[in-house]
Amino acid sequence: MIDYTPAALTEALTGLHADLRVLGPEALAGRHPGEHEHNLGAGVMAQPASTEAAAALIAWCRENRVAIVPQGGSSGLVGGGVSRAEEVILSSARLNSILAIRPDESTVEVEAGVTLEALQSALRPHGLTTGIDLGSRGSATIGGMLATNAGGILAFRNGVMRHQILGLEAVLPSGEIFSDMTRVVKVSAGPDLKQLFIGGEGAFGFVTRVVMTVERLRPHRATALLGVVDAASALSVAAHLNQLGGVTLEAAEMMWPRYVQDHAALKAFDLDWLDEGAAMLLVEVSAETQEIATLALEEALAELWEPAGLRGGILAQSSEQARRFWDLREDSGFYFGQFPNAPSFDISVPPSEIDDYVAGLLGGLRQIGSGYDAYVYGHVADGNLHIALATAGPLPTEIKHAVEHVVYAGVTARGGSFSAEHGVGLEKRDAYEEHVPAAKRLLARQIKALLDPQGLFNPGKVPF
Ligand code: LAC
Ligand code: ZN
Repeated sequence: MIDYTPAALTEALTGLHADLRVLGPEALAGRHPGEHEHNLGAGVMAQPASTEAAAALIAWCRENRVAIVPQGGSSGLVGGGVSRAEEVILSSARLNSILAIRPDESTVEVEAGVTLEALQSALRPHGLTTGIDLGSRGSATIGGMLATNAGGILAFRNGVMRHQILGLEAVLPSGEIFSDMTRVVKVSAGPDLKQLFIGGEGAFGFVTRVVMTVERLRPHRATALLGVVDAASALSVAAHLNQLGGVTLEAAEMMWPRYVQDHAALKAFDLDWLDEGAAMLLVEVSAETQEIATLALEEALAELWEPAGLRGGILAQSSEQARRFWDLREDSGFYFGQFPNAPSFDISVPPSEIDDYVAGLLGGLRQIGSGYDAYVYGHVADGNLHIALATAGPLPTEIKHAVEHVVYAGVTARGGSFSAEHGVGLEKRDAYEEHVPAAKRLLARQIKALLDPQGLFNPGKVPF
């Protein structure tokens, strides 16, 4: 009978494979857990440096019925990496090699633990970059982004993680290696089973390697902050910039008025140029030279001013100023300072439905009680909104249900999703049960039972 305490598991796993490093409770004590305080709850972490070492660990866990929690950069926002005593964290930290950069075919082959930013830095000298980008690029790993099917800033143009992945390798719960490292867009050879791991949140296996598409780096950028009355106006600006010749739209990020006002106040960001009560749109375009990018954006904004009903605008005069614009949008957790554990959501609706949705959301919250309000911001061009209540959490159960009722109202019926890019994890389990059709949930459970009959991979998360 094996002892499942963290110390005993650490001892049992140490020396299992030459490429496996095992960190026990002492080594993990004092480590930052990442976005969720219980990520390191297991007290034991295995860090394979090869697929074979990961397979050896997984085979051992299977034989000994020990549950596995796969972890990447621990920047996940729904508790998908939370672990408990008697489980083992399987970390991709040492699977951090960039195996091949192929500029001629615009692909890259990387191990799953490479961070997005490390990959972007490695691609830069080749004049390339990733076709996906997001605020937590410094910690988010390719494996973790794949597991949640991350989206980010460029999704309106390039799609999400699913559309960036050409091939992958994973270790299955059986300990077998699933290798499907194709480097081409076209594969018409039966069902594309690797899709199971993309958005699978670590429930179907542990991804070790990936082939991704990359795109040309366009370093010359012009960035502006614009005042807009609503999403329709923001979308008309984005649509116009998206069809301009000679420039590429790189971002269309919107922040609703409360977010703008509170964040600007906190950062001492001057809003004199913005009409009172307006929402804000951050746009960025790239071109062959800085001059072309700046001139094109200036001209386009002059042309758009009246028809789009813009309520003010400033163009970044330097990359430092552009960085400050971006900081308003990307340092989005600022509200947790004032509202600890504020309940937060990540939904999507078709872009043309955003204004109607947001009006219903804010009106519905006000009906719950006076003072109920939300910070709303997000990737307006693809319809993905982040919503955080201006109320500290956790909420009393009844209020929590009322809030969720309002936030999710009509999302599915409009053709959107209760979880756009952050995953289900622990925190959106109830929403998964409520909003995913029964037949789809059943099929997912049947596939899970087939691949992981003992239920050892990331138990307790996406409800299987
Ligand atoms: C963002 C993260 C929260 O877009 O998805 O800021
Ligand atoms: Zn986002």
